[in-house]
Amino acid sequence: LSGYVTLDSGYKNTGATKSAITFLDGEQGILKYRGYPIEELAEKSSFLEIAYLLIYGTLPTQNELDNFQYQISRHTLVHEDMKKFFDGFPSHSHPMGQLCSLVCSLSAFYPESLNVHAGKEEENTTILKLLAKMPTVVSWIYKKGIGHPIIYPQNDLDYVSNFLNMTFGQRTEKYVIDPVVVSAMNKLLILHADHEQNCSTSTVRIVGSSDCNLYASISAGISALWGPLHGGANQAVIEMLEKIKNDGGDVDKWVAKAKDKNDSFRLMGFGHRVYKNFDPRAKIIKKACDDILEKLGINDPVLEIAKKLEEVALSDPYFADRKLYPNVDFYSGIIYRALGFPTEMFTVLFALGRLPGWIAQWKEMRENKEPIGRPRQIYVGEVNQEFVEISKR
Ligand code: SDX
Repeated sequence: LSGYVTLDSGYKNTGATKSAITFLDGEQGILKYRGYPIEELAEKSSFLEIAYLLIYGTLPTQNELDNFQYQISRHTLVHEDMKKFFDGFPSHSHPMGQLCSLVCSLSAFYPESLNVHAGKEEENTTILKLLAKMPTVVSWIYKKGIGHPIIYPQNDLDYVSNFLNMTFGQRTEKYVIDPVVVSAMNKLLILHADHEQNCSTSTVRIVGSSDCNLYASISAGISALWGPLHGGANQAVIEMLEKIKNDGGDVDKWVAKAKDKNDSFRLMGFGHRVYKNFDPRAKIIKKACDDILEKLGINDPVLEIAKKLEEVALSDPYFADRKLYPNVDFYSGIIYRALGFPTEMFTVLFALGRLPGWIAQWKEMRENKEPIGRPRQIYVGEVNQEFVEISKR
């Protein structure tokens, strides 16, 4: 304490804002979007419906949803000049580095987005453009990684089917859109759509609080999500499971490593700042894992390792004492892999899912006219230093 400032590293006990978008109860393992339980939304809604709910506050009527889909379809193309910028990336540069750069560059290609005081209609067009262009840009990044030509948007397809077609479609043959894959993708994107004031969302809010435009604010959120302690965990989980598999599947050894204070290794996909019980999203994804792999006829050995790891960890007092349970990232990568995505694309898919939440939170922050974010500090440095000429240092 220093007079008027309370130190709260990592804002573990700070309420940074008031929000009506997402409700989390970490003790009960409850997650609700605009008051609706995630379990119901994940089963019964489409991702675009949830994007509408998060951004505009109500579940859309069929008419509203159709119009939303139509408005988005007007903006799915990305300015052709962006390809010149995009072509400059090395083909195997990390997809998250490409994504945060491309999303920020939208502010250069669509400069009308820079004026955050233009009005509600202009703001909504900026929002629709980002929702529409994100799947296109994500599919570009995937195609670059495999050295294939991009596939243009097809506006007669729904949001998720269009994304799958641009990603897995080829110019040489028609891509057959599998309803199992569409349903799994909708569910995964819904489960990632918002999560109150997590690291990346707080980043979007604080950058936006300086009157910074939407695209640059979201780009900052993408950078925060990239970190392996946050969204990057879904890539780190698969890399960890692969390592354990290649090490003979000795789960006990790796759990012991995670407990060893002298070892920096952590069980990726375990633990959560807020959930001190099971992450409700992990429960839904774990169930979906079995279901989707069975439907697609895939037997993925890392799934068995994941289940064994979870079983061993949850029976170990170290994890129980610290209330460490599997989080959203623990199983999601196994499904993404089953759907055909390479590991380095997993966090980009997390960003695609989180986009409506980031937008909704940025919009709410502006509607509530929140002040620019500027926390204080406890100063622990030198106080009265005498200047010394360089010749005397
Ligand atoms: C996401 O906030 C959100 O909502 C995020 C998210 C979202 O939807 O936006 O839910 C998405 O980011 C999920 C989390 C993904 N990250 C990981 O899976 C990485 C592995 N987990 C962690 O590093 C950790 O659990 C965090 C970052 C998730 C939470 O960190 P905290 O709350 O700061 O907890 P901590 O680091 O202070 O750990 C508390 C104790 C420590 O032990 P002690 O010092 O008390 O003895 O638990 C231990 C830690 O060493 N610990 C772990 C561990 N996580 C915490 N030990 C082994 N393995 C782990 N994974």
